[in-house]
Parts: sequence; C-alpha cells; structure tokens
Amino acid sequence: MKTLSEKILLYYREHRRVLPWRENPLPYFVWISEIMLQQTRVETVIPYFERFIRTFPTIEALANADEEILLKLWEGLGYYSRARNLHRAAAILVEQYEGKLPDSKKELMKLPGIGAYTAGAIASISFGKRETAVDGNLIRVGSRLSAYSGSTSSAEGKRVMDDFWQHLLPEQNAGDFNQAIMDIGATVCLPNGEPLCSFCPINEFCKAYAQGNPTDYPTKKEKKTRRIENKTVFILRCENRLLLEKRAEGGLLGGLLQFPMCDGHLSEQEALDYWRAKSFVPIRIHENVQAKHIFSHIEWRMISWEIVVDPFIVMEDGDLWIDCAKLDQITLPTAFRAWRKQIK
Ligand code: ADE
Repeated sequence: MKTLSEKILLYYREHRRVLPWRENPLPYFVWISEIMLQQTRVETVIPYFERFIRTFPTIEALANADEEILLKLWEGLGYYSRARNLHRAAAILVEQYEGKLPDSKKELMKLPGIGAYTAGAIASISFGKRETAVDGNLIRVGSRLSAYSGSTSSAEGKRVMDDFWQHLLPEQNAGDFNQAIMDIGATVCLPNGEPLCSFCPINEFCKAYAQGNPTDYPTKKEKKTRRIENKTVFILRCENRLLLEKRAEGGLLGGLLQFPMCDGHLSEQEALDYWRAKSFVPIRIHENVQAKHIFSHIEWRMISWEIVVDPFIVMEDGDLWIDCAKLDQITLPTAFRAWRKQIK
C-alpha cells in the first residue's frame, strides 16, 4: 500500500495542471507567479504572468522597470503593493545577490513581499529544498485530512498545520508535493460548496471524510465584518480633459491615481459647493453611475457627479488634467472601472 506522501506525488505526476510557470520553474518565474497568485485565481493570473515575463524577462529588467509601466501591467490584479514590493526586491537582488534569488527559505524571507509561504514555494519548487509552503489550500486540505478543530487563523493553528505538512514532506520533490496539494485544494478539496471527496486521490487518509463532515474544516473563524464606506466620485471635465488626483502614499491603493473622490454621499448642492470651495466654477452638473467595490476589509459604495467646469478659471499648477483620449495609458484601480468604461 502506498503512503499518503507517495499518493500525493503520484497524483502530481499524473494529474497536475499545466501552468506556464511550471514547465520551466526558474526561480524568477516561480516568484512572480506566486506573488500574483496571492488572493488571485490561477485563470486570472495566467495572461498577467505571460505579459509580465515578456515585458520583464529577467530580475534585472524588473529592477530597471519604470514604475508606471509596472503598475500598468498590474492593473486589474489589485493589491498594488505586491507590484511595488517586487520592484523593490528586484533592486535588492541586483545590488546584493548578483541578480539571483537566494535558495534558502530563510534568506528569501528577508526580501520585501516574501513571507513564509512564498519563500517555501520558491525554495521547494525551484531549488528542490525540503520546505513547506502552507497557503490556504494546504490549510484546508491539512485541516480536513487531520480533522483539526483548532482555529487555523491563530498562530498556534498555523504552526500545527505547518508541522503536519512538514512531517509528510518527501525527501525529494517537495516542490511537486506542495503543488500537488495546491492542485487538490483548487480542484477537489474545494473551499466553497461540497468538496469532490469521491474523486479525491487521498480520501482513504482523510479523517474528515471518514467522519462525513469535511466542510466543518477548517474551523470557521468569526466572519470579519467589512467596513462600509460611502464615497462620492467626481468626473470633472474641462473641455476634453478630466481631472485626476493622486491618493496618499501608504494606505489603501496608496500613491495611485483616481478620479477625485470624497467621503460620504454628497447631494448635488454639496457637490457644487465642494468644487466652488476649491475655486472651480461649475457650469453643468449631472448625476453619473453608482458603483460598489469590495476590498478585503472595506467596501466602497460610490455615487458620482459629472461636472463640467469653466476652462478660464481652472488649470491650476499642480492639478492633474488628463486628455480623455489618454486615459487608457493611466493606471486606474479596478474600483473605478465603471467610469473608465463609460468615458471610453
Ligand atoms: N496557488 C498558489 N501557488 C500555486 C502553484 N504553484 N500551483 C497551483 N496553485 C497555486
């Protein structure tokens, strides 16, 4: 009879998903793919990955990248700090590591944006190191296999899951092993809805399957409530130009451009007063679309006003007016998709 680890490796050999970063798992490719795959589905990532590698084929090319072009390539993936960290880490690699990713998990974790999971994935997949890479998939599959009823979001639960997988890691091919579990997690041991236990290659080892309650694991953490924030978005037009503004560095969508926006839902009169107070002279106003955007911990409920302003009274230095035709070249967060589409 095969052991659990043997079965997992066999599954990978026979049924692994064919993915562009798997065929030639260069450390650079695995790094980029793992960062993109955080919070993002494989199908979404594939075209982004291919475009990214075509544009920046090496760590050095990434280190020398123009940040605008980099963010533009990232547009739509969200969590833009991931792109910024890639850029910073590439510069560090060129300066301090001869342009190469180090092969140890510990050393990898010193780089911006690389935590235990990503470091373990690179070390095991690209360098063949016997390291765990415990992501949401491994937590789900591991907690079901072992019927672990503690909270997997606590530090203790994370340690238990890491130990569980550490013990099962084969001497060779830890990268294949880790990726096999990611595949089983994504295609069989599903996070939402009923898992496909009867097709699972390791169901004979699964305590939760034996108990008949796989969906009880991982133990649900209390639902984080998402804060709702009302926003008013302004499409401010002056002849064929639109006003944009830069978000504050650091926080949510830090440093990115956006249509001007303020807190709360402003009435027509309040919207006019808002711009008059900034010395603009509105000459027409109408209501534009409403939209909602969900971030991990915040939900924006946006209404919008489109305002045409008098060209003779604007054009302050420092205001960022963009030709409508050039809007496509600007990186705008997905939250503003509704307006961008309309302007197009
Ligand atoms: N999700 C995150 N990393 C992955 C990988 N290397 N293969 C499949 N799914 C993943």
